Amino acid sequence: MTQQTILTGIRANEEPTLGNYLGAIVPMVTLQRKYADTYRINMFVPDLHSFTTPIDHDSLYHNTLQNLKYFIAAGLDISNSNTHIYRQSYISAHSELTWILDCFTYVGEMQRMTQFKDKSGEHNASITMGLMNYPVLMAADILLYDAEWVPVGEDQFQHLEITRDIATRFNNKFGDIFTVPYETRTQTSFIERDNGLRIRSLTDPTKKMSKSSSDEKSKILLTDTPTVAHKKIMSATTDSIGSVDFNWELQPGVTNLLQIASILSNTPQDEINAQWRGSDRYGDLKQSVADEVALFLEKFQKKLDTISETELLAALEASERSMNQQANAVLLKAQQAVGLRPKA
Ligand code: TYM
Repeated sequence: MTQQTILTGIRANEEPTLGNYLGAIVPMVTLQRKYADTYRINMFVPDLHSFTTPIDHDSLYHNTLQNLKYFIAAGLDISNSNTHIYRQSYISAHSELTWILDCFTYVGEMQRMTQFKDKSGEHNASITMGLMNYPVLMAADILLYDAEWVPVGEDQFQHLEITRDIATRFNNKFGDIFTVPYETRTQTSFIERDNGLRIRSLTDPTKKMSKSSSDEKSKILLTDTPTVAHKKIMSATTDSIGSVDFNWELQPGVTNLLQIASILSNTPQDEINAQWRGSDRYGDLKQSVADEVALFLEKFQKKLDTISETELLAALEASERSMNQQANAVLLKAQQAVGLRPKA
């Protein structure tokens, strides 16, 4: 059997949140622990994806390296020979394949993407082609490495499905060029979850915790001091029902806290739920989760300080050399298929 690939990425547009940590970083590190001997693990920073909406460009380069450090601080072992870390813009095949895929993707499909609709609403006057084209670049990120497994949070499921559609359409026209990643349901069972993960905003738990939200109290940043994070959890919006239950419909605020408690402490959700079910002491639940989050941040930030940028850069550059070769081989197959290069 050929070696399968697990691939994911986190943009460097803003400081990652606890949502990114629990939704993408923890699952990737857990998968590495479990599968690094048999699978290829690709962990990259989609730096080109990071300015589809306005950002502070002076921070982009720094944030890109910082993102990789977050993975390392969370436990990703970059010395493992099956693990590859890289920056999207250092591998030009990503941009080149995007153009080819663009020509087999319909404008209507992109306009229907929920994230495009949401974000183009927020940035109404200045919707860029980059924002609309974002899922096609994401498809290239995945297809260039034959990745079957793409652990992402629920907000990215639609982009994963469109990747499957684009790849299947291309393969139907040109033959077996791309490996089509598994559908989202199979992906979630791979990371041992019943459904996609979506950590909610602390101030409006009907929405996801988003790093681009301007409401500072809605999100815990990985750079928040433990004291600030503690306060944010203590002031999280709950409800007036007065009895704890894990129920996204009726009690999204307390359910969000229960979910954070379960993942951070690596305790099964049922166990955490049983511990708190029926309690009328929302303050105690908040206190317990706030303590847990503060302790996590304290340890995490200490670890972050010990990571050497020189070592990280050396590992990155070595990995980018070999990833360039791999990505170029898949790009060549696509170029040959569409007639840009002679067939072998
Ligand atoms: P990005 O940078 O917005 O988010 C990175 C990862 O974090 C997950 N996530 C969450 N999970 C749970 N709860 C939340 N509140 C939450 N917020 C974010 C996201 O689902 C994602 O897994 N397009 C991607 C980056 C990307 C990518 C790729 C990912 C580009 N190319 C190829 C996988 C494969 C994005 O914007 O993620």
